Amino acid sequence: MFITLEGGEGAGKTTQMERIFQYLSQKGHPCVKTREPGHGFIGRQIRALLMLPANETLVPTAELLLFMADRAQHIESFILPEMQKGNVVLCDRFFDSTVVYQGFTGQVGVEKTLSFHDVVFNGFRPDLTILFDLNPGIGLHRTICQLNDGGRCEKESRFEQKKLDFHKKIRQGFLLRAEAEPERIKIVDAELSQEEVWLQIKKILDEFLQNNPAR
Ligand code: TYD
Repeated sequence: MFITLEGGEGAGKTTQMERIFQYLSQKGHPCVKTREPGHGFIGRQIRALLMLPANETLVPTAELLLFMADRAQHIESFILPEMQKGNVVLCDRFFDSTVVYQGFTGQVGVEKTLSFHDVVFNGFRPDLTILFDLNPGIGLHRTICQLNDGGRCEKESRFEQKKLDFHKKIRQGFLLRAEAEPERIKIVDAELSQEEVWLQIKKILDEFLQNNPAR
């Protein structure tokens, strides 16, 4: 089983990922946690290239291909082997982020990004995607607080430094993704308290497990 968490900045994915991990493990579904970009030795190097503010001149296609290179390495060396062992793979961001950030908001375009993905990864999709939806003003405020608290590295903030309009478009892009694949992508209202967000997620997980007992 492969579950991804998606959404704009400061949506609280990391905290909820931990709760999902605990919940599924207790229910007898062993889990592993991962994220994109940046899994493993190769992934960390690709992530460093992508996130560095000084690399602002990276051209859109190069940026897209770096995210996809990271994903190719991630899928083959970690995601598929873990799924084959019977583990649930929980991933913080995956290809919907690429469709939204590089395709919808960036200059590559959604259709081209989707078709690249389908050609390279044979249409590989998560089984379930939880979309954390919130007003980007709130998300950015949360992220800036984390930066000020030292919870996040400033070198990594290239994507977070973009303007509010950009983040509004990101939100719109994710909502369009959910509209395009409503069976797979489930939306949670991430503006609520952590506890309330968790209750929404728990309901989604319970429904998913009920409808997919063999997984
Ligand atoms: P990260 O610090 O991991 O983000 P967050 O905590 O917000 O999940 O930074 C990842 C950044 O990379 C984030 O701004 C989204 C962006 N991104 C893309 O543009 N395309 C992609 O395919 C992925 C996976 C991430």
